[in-house]
Amino acid sequence: MQHWQEELRAAAAAWRGGGWPAPKVALISGSGLAVDLDLPSTGRQPLQRFIPWPVHAIVGHPLELEVLLPEGPAPIAYFRGRLHSYQGYTAAQTVFPVRLAALLGARVLLLTNAAGTVSDRVPPGGFALVTDHLNLTGLNPLRGTPPEEWGPRFPDMVDAYDPRLRALLHRHAAAIGLQLAEGVYGGLAGPTYETPAEVRMMRTLGADLVGMSTVLEVIAARHMGVRCACLSLAANYGAGMVSEPLVHEDVLAAGQAAAAHLRRLFERVLVDPALTV
Ligand code: HPA
Repeated sequence: MQHWQEELRAAAAAWRGGGWPAPKVALISGSGLAVDLDLPSTGRQPLQRFIPWPVHAIVGHPLELEVLLPEGPAPIAYFRGRLHSYQGYTAAQTVFPVRLAALLGARVLLLTNAAGTVSDRVPPGGFALVTDHLNLTGLNPLRGTPPEEWGPRFPDMVDAYDPRLRALLHRHAAAIGLQLAEGVYGGLAGPTYETPAEVRMMRTLGADLVGMSTVLEVIAARHMGVRCACLSLAANYGAGMVSEPLVHEDVLAAGQAAAAHLRRLFERVLVDPALTV
């Protein structure tokens, strides 16, 4: 038995034992995208409370957990900020929040991230729904022997980004006048931004967006039968496509500019009973 499996089971037991509502949906926010949602909730707790090894936050990721309890498909485990493999976590540690939510019963995972756009299909400053991904991190959270009851040894990854969830997000975005592009997300390990040659490579490979998160989480979720959707904020053009250098502060500023839209969208989506059917 791998150590992290024990840790997950213990974390799920501690969650239940602590009287925390079991989530039906999990939401994980990306860099600068931990928006305040005006929905009833348990209040915010440090994520560290639910993770048995030390986690450290990076700017733009408060690393808090809030359980949202609106009418509709609640409870929703809102992970405000995520863990990235480039912070030094193993793939299994990186997806710990996803597996914890899945073990507790979550059947839907919504993700946001900030990404670079390398495609004409996705204008910078706008949002794109991820339709598929390229896992170029060199990592996979299913390495080793996850328990058989968690999911298949060789999970199918067709429609990993659930078409029905995408349609639901499109519908709500249209209702608030928010344009959503669509694109393939290329996940790299980071933490360096890409070289211009790597940006050209990503375009050639079929990516529209490039980033340093999401793919491991979606793999872990799909393995456990959790339906996924991901909204990327195209925070900047890929490296070398424009003359300015890429800096994290600009990525966070793009998040702030987009936060109001994201907030309105999630305040609708998270109360829609269709989210979990
Ligand atoms: N590349 C990788 N990750 C990112 C980028 C980028 O251009 N922008 C925000 N996250």
